[in-house]
Parts: sequence; C-alpha cells; structure tokens
Amino acid sequence: MSTDSPLKPLDKPINALSDNFGPVVKTRDLTKRYGRETVVSNLSLEVQAGEIFGFLGPNGAGKTTTLLMLLGLSEPSSGEAWVLGLNPVKAPLAVKSQVGYLPENMGFYQDLTAEENLKFVCELNNLKNAPLAETLSLVGLLENRNRLVSTYSRGMRQRLGLAEVLIKKPKLIFLDEPTLGLDPDGIATMLELIERLPREMGLTIILSSHLLHLVNKVANRVAILNKGRLLALGSVTDLAHQANLEPDLEKIYHYFFKADQQEGAA
Ligand SMILES: Nc1ncnc2c1ncn2[C@@H]1O[C@H](COP(=O)(O)OP(=O)(O)OP(=O)(O)O)[C@@H](O)[C@H]1O
Ligand SMILES: [Mg+2]
Repeated sequence: MSTDSPLKPLDKPINALSDNFGPVVKTRDLTKRYGRETVVSNLSLEVQAGEIFGFLGPNGAGKTTTLLMLLGLSEPSSGEAWVLGLNPVKAPLAVKSQVGYLPENMGFYQDLTAEENLKFVCELNNLKNAPLAETLSLVGLLENRNRLVSTYSRGMRQRLGLAEVLIKKPKLIFLDEPTLGLDPDGIATMLELIERLPREMGLTIILSSHLLHLVNKVANRVAILNKGRLLALGSVTDLAHQANLEPDLEKIYHYFFKADQQEGAA
C-alpha cells in the first residue's frame, strides 16, 4: 500500500469464501440478440473462486450485456449461465442477494452524507448491524463519512459505490468500468482496493475495463470480446504464449483483434 493512499488495512477478513461451488460463474453458449443484432454470441467461459477476471473489448463488445445476464437483469436469448451454482433467470433474487454490482454510473442521494447513503442501502436491504465504519474505512472514506455526497470527488463516489456493494457481503462482484473518469491517484487507489478484496474478503471479481495496462496489473485471467464474440480467454501468460508475444496485454489484445480481422477477411 502506498504511503499517501487513503486506504486503511483491514484487521480481519469479513467474508471468507468457504463454500465450494466449482466455478463461481459458468456460461455455455450464452447469447443475447436485440432484434436481428446478436450482441453476445455463444459465450462459453468459467470464472473460479478468488479470481480477478478482466472483461475486455471495445465499446459495444457486449461486456455490460453479459454482466446484466449474469445478474438476472437481462434474459439470454439462448444458452445458459450459472452464478454461484444458480441460474440467474430462474433465481434472480438469490443471485442478486449474493452478487454485488457496481454499474458504470452509480447514483447516490446527493443531499445525504456518505454514511447516510450507506445506512440507507442497509435499511433497503434489511441488513442489521452492518459494519458501516469498517466498510467506510476499507474504502478510505471514514474521515469523510459526514460530508454530503454532493461535495465528493468522482474518486470518492466510486469508492462509496464500492462500499455500497461490499456492505452486502457479496461472494462475487461485478465492476463495470470502475476506473472510468478517475485521475491517476484515483485509479491507483481503486486498483489497490480491487487487488485486496479477493485476499481479504474472499471475493471473486469480474471487472470490465478499456484500460489494458491496469487490467494487466490486477487480473488473473481475461476474456477479450469483440462484437459479442470471444476472441481470447486465459491468463496473460497463456495468451502471450499463444500469440508468441511478451506478456503485455496491450500487444496481446491487438494481436487477437488483428487475427480475427484476417480470419474475417479470408
Ligand atoms: N437494450 C438494448 N437494446 C438494443 N441494443 C442494445 C441494448 N443494450 C445494449 N445494446 C447493444 O448491444 C451492444 C453491446 O452493448 P454493451 O453495452 O453490452 O457493450 P459494452 O461492451 O458494455 O460497451 P462499452 O464499452 O461501451 O460499455 C451494443 O451494440 C449496444 O448498442
Ligand atoms: Mg459497458
């Protein structure tokens, strides 16, 4: 942890993942169509417990749509998904109660303080004796907990969003572009948090991002998507071997895109 980081070390893990589900997320030929357009196409992948899994791809690749299907918020056109052993179409509430989601744009009550926002989330979710101070401390907002959210910076809001996700003690979290619009310090703090969560809270994390060098730093494995199709899946080391490149995600990403274009043209 860097010396000027607002984050504090967590004394004890608050949600170690002990259950053994097999893969935490599994999809088989998961497909989503809007009208004639297929925006997620026969996606098959698995994410294991404790992983940080990066979802990569350009705008419109189908990252958010996939996350929404895994959350039970969007129904697949065909194919299947299992999240913590549950089918999100059949058991959306059970999935939502165990899976946290930080959307691309998180909304807050601007005229409430950070702590009041967090308390409100606890009330809505019927969480009794939730560790408010501990969670605010984890995301580095304890000292600023009594400030109105309207006075918060974008970085502080993102961390409050993460606190709202973590307070529900999820087993798995989806972070959709968690570093969008953050300055370099904000990005570093968010990444540091993301790296700590699997270790300290036993969480599994799926994150979508366009920032390849950052994903390179934190992700154990990545999926590269384009136009809803999976171009590559594996650890950076595995993909580097496949592409005969150094383990640099930026180079790997461009390699698989080029290979796909050549295949399309052939
Ligand atoms: N409700 C919808 N109705 C019709 N088309 C949609 C809908 N939601 C998404 N799409 C389309 O599905 C495709 C995939 O969108 P999605 O938001 O999943 O991409 P993404 O990878 O998250 O992109 P970004 O990096 O911009 O967030 C896009 O072409 C988008 O226009
Ligand atoms: Mg998206």
